[in-house]
Amino acid sequence: MSANRPAAVVVLAAGEGTRMKSATPKVLHSICGRSLVGHVVAAARELGPEELVVVVGHAREQVTAHLSEIDPGVRTAVQHEQNGTGHAVRMALEELAKKAGGEPVDGTVVVVCGDTPLLTGGTLRGLADAHTADGNAVTVLTAVVPDSTGYGRIVRDPADGAVTAIVEHKDATDAQRAINEINSGVFAFDGRLLADALGKVRTDNSQGEEYLTDVLGILREAGHRVGAAVADDHREILGINNRVQLAEARRLLNERLLRAAMLSGVTVVDPATTWVDVTVTFEPDALIHPGTQLHGATHLAANAEVGPNCTLTDTAVGEGARVTNAVADGAQVGAGASVGPFAYLRPGTKLGRKAKAGTYVEMKNADIGEGTKVPHLSYVGDATIGDQTNIGAASVFVNYDGVAKHHTTIGSHCRTGSDNMFVAPVTVGDGAYTAAGSVITKDVPPGSLAVARGQQRNIEGWVARKRPGSAAARAAQAAREAPEDEL
Ligand code: UD1
Ligand code: CA
Repeated sequence: MSANRPAAVVVLAAGEGTRMKSATPKVLHSICGRSLVGHVVAAARELGPEELVVVVGHAREQVTAHLSEIDPGVRTAVQHEQNGTGHAVRMALEELAKKAGGEPVDGTVVVVCGDTPLLTGGTLRGLADAHTADGNAVTVLTAVVPDSTGYGRIVRDPADGAVTAIVEHKDATDAQRAINEINSGVFAFDGRLLADALGKVRTDNSQGEEYLTDVLGILREAGHRVGAAVADDHREILGINNRVQLAEARRLLNERLLRAAMLSGVTVVDPATTWVDVTVTFEPDALIHPGTQLHGATHLAANAEVGPNCTLTDTAVGEGARVTNAVADGAQVGAGASVGPFAYLRPGTKLGRKAKAGTYVEMKNADIGEGTKVPHLSYVGDATIGDQTNIGAASVFVNYDGVAKHHTTIGSHCRTGSDNMFVAPVTVGDGAYTAAGSVITKDVPPGSLAVARGQQRNIEGWVARKRPGSAAARAAQAAREAPEDEL
């Protein structure tokens, strides 16, 4: 970790985010498997700050509960009324001062907005380092963007290019609105000077708010050094105010994640239709076909092949396994195993090496042994199946009696017939066979054949009597009259 640890990082997350038009607070909307504020907190952590404070206000119980779930080390400061970004930072500094016996924070305070999820730890590090190296009172992260609508504009001195002020879009003149260098909302401050300047921020602007951005002008007028660091990639500072920007940020972050995966040896056939969470991991030579979504703790081992059209959540796909047109949640797919097309693996499914969950197969809480196959049209719930067993087509593990779930155990090297119902709790021993169409309600000893179905009865001449003159009757008549050798 760099020696240059900031005293605090303050994340602003008290706003409602009215432009999202949502019952969910803006910073809790998520992209790539993590909330907006979660992305910002993760980037902030990379700076190794002594304190990480998130300012909460709108829906603060919900936001606070979320924060303690994702990062219990986060402190919160409450901003009861959203009187602006300057007011929000003031609340954070008051919270920090409480702990320090009323003393203002000494050292660097980095401020970031909770709605800029693409910001990286590396960019924050660059800003903090430039701030310290230049001995600034404040350093603002800026970016040159194609469309600056809505952002605060960076006003520079025409003579020496120094930043003189930040003017909010709503307060800007037409000439200022033409400026395409904008405030990212990320700053590094000298803690003591920040506390002092915040006391001088006024609310005589179009929104009647305390703007954090006014601190720059205040510090400059007091003769302090004000610096700016221009972001290398303006897309990193995209602030989310509405759902169009939410989708844009998701696409950009997804591209970044897939790019890293590809550079580490993963083949992504169609990055435009492949979506991954930040928590997904890969081994080299994994291959992803189009239309695939990978979520949570999903892991693709070497040579695993997934897709097209798969949605995998918290699922581990073993080496060389093949998963196609499938949905899986909380499943483990063994090395060389095969899933789909059109399979649904639910939590607790564990497919052994070279096992198979084939077409129109649903599994839940099922432990399937090595080389065991469930190829067609079956439901396997609450079951343990041994190795090298074959389950006939259209079988159902009848696990629910309407009140409780029960378990079925099937041994190794079994051959169960098609259209079997295994009425749990029931056990089929190793090497046993069951007849097609059986309803298995009693345990089957190892090596036995179980037959549990009605006897077939043929009623001779029924069609001729009951359907005289019909096509069926004529066909039957012709078949009976045909000479022996034609049959
Ligand atoms: C802000 C900046 C603008 C910058 C832009 C970058 C100000 C005055 N404006 O504008 O210069 O270009 O971010 O994205 O700083 N918040 C609070 N309490 C408040 C108000 C806001 O915690 O009272 C939080 C919000 O939850 C949000 C962040 O501060 O996470 C920014 O607020 P937002 O309303 O989105 O500011 P912008 O108008 O985007
Ligand atoms: Ca914003």
